[in-house]
Amino acid sequence: MTSLDPAKVYDHALEVLKENDRGTYTVPTKGLYPFQWNWDSCLTALGQSHYDEGRAWTEIETLFAHQWPDGMVPHIVFHVYSDGYFPGPDVWGTNRPTATSGITQPPVAGFAIRRLYDRAKDKAAAAERARGLLAKVDAWHEWFYANRDPRSEGLVAILHPWESGRDNSIDWDEAFERVPTEGVAPYTRRDTQHADPAHRPTKAQYDRYLWLVEHFRALGWDNSRLHDASPFQVVDPGFNAILIRSCTDLADLADALGEPAIAAANRARAAKGLAALGSLWSAAHSQYVCQDRTTGMLIDSASIGGLLAVFAAIPAEQARGIARTIERQAGLVKYIVPSHDPADTRFEAKRYWRGPAWLVMNYMIADGLKAAGETEIAARIVESSLELIARSGFAEYYDPLTGEPCGGGRFTWTAAMVIEFVEQGRR
Ligand code: GLC
Repeated sequence: MTSLDPAKVYDHALEVLKENDRGTYTVPTKGLYPFQWNWDSCLTALGQSHYDEGRAWTEIETLFAHQWPDGMVPHIVFHVYSDGYFPGPDVWGTNRPTATSGITQPPVAGFAIRRLYDRAKDKAAAAERARGLLAKVDAWHEWFYANRDPRSEGLVAILHPWESGRDNSIDWDEAFERVPTEGVAPYTRRDTQHADPAHRPTKAQYDRYLWLVEHFRALGWDNSRLHDASPFQVVDPGFNAILIRSCTDLADLADALGEPAIAAANRARAAKGLAALGSLWSAAHSQYVCQDRTTGMLIDSASIGGLLAVFAAIPAEQARGIARTIERQAGLVKYIVPSHDPADTRFEAKRYWRGPAWLVMNYMIADGLKAAGETEIAARIVESSLELIARSGFAEYYDPLTGEPCGGGRFTWTAAMVIEFVEQGRR
């Protein structure tokens, strides 16, 4: 694809979404990821809503049909057996009626359903579908603060890098050193059979991913015990910003649907989270950074997680700081936004979340910057995203120096974000 003709790009995106549509859920891409992923689905629904509102609601409803009784929404739902992915259901051992993983992912559902509702052409139908999801999303938010913020600090921790959605980010390197590798059952990775091993997480990282899974499984996936029992507890500003934004959006939606108790609970969570987020600001990096909860120390790693924080209604000064940081990065790479600061020696342009650009990140960051009035840099991010598509098609992610496509091809959420960008351009 070489042209930037919006109609053509849109049609091509639609083709990718339909190709990966399994009727009631969408796989991220054939082969590499043959199941339903949590935040992929919620963001994908946004793209679907432009051509089929009903189908968009179904995507999120299917995910929530597999919510755990304690409120957690798992990061993968293994609807149909496939041996093409590791770790599969037997490794997770969660004993759910339909197999799921045992960890969660960035809670973007609250944001997504509000957006679906706001833009719905069929308001009555949308109100009904939204009403059906409201209490479920609220229960998930409640689960987060009860289980991942046990000391009521206002911010939640992730217990596994995969929960962040940014699997092998430099953010986790130091904290990951504390995770043992001894005793992990022998295994064969599948991801490196579908994608270039040089772009994927390393073997040492994979051993630790699995050690944590086996550790949590040995604790019976009892979420009331996992937080304190985990050697890995990291407070990720991007993850928390998504949760805060979803709480705010769910509150607004609850108000619109006449559910004041849900509205009040979520507004209080968002206010507390926003106030606490300030402690993660790094003036030196002009962005937010992660905190290692096991030591209480901030992590010196300028990743995209700290830029994504602008997705929540952070103070204007911080939003401006993030805009400047992205402008600086734009002088170092050809395409923004890189998933790690290119000025950091640890930056790797092709290795997954250690440098490459991802369209879902661009979408959420641009959305937040626009809301904060930083419209110029927001527009540049959208422009860069569409240039990447024109140059390299609908890849999983892109080398920000060259624009080369990396990882899986014909990727669902990339296509969904393109539809969002094209539709925004039309309005
Ligand atoms: C990778 C990504 C994660 C995504 C999943 C499916 O694990 O890091 O964010 O949800 O693939 O696309």
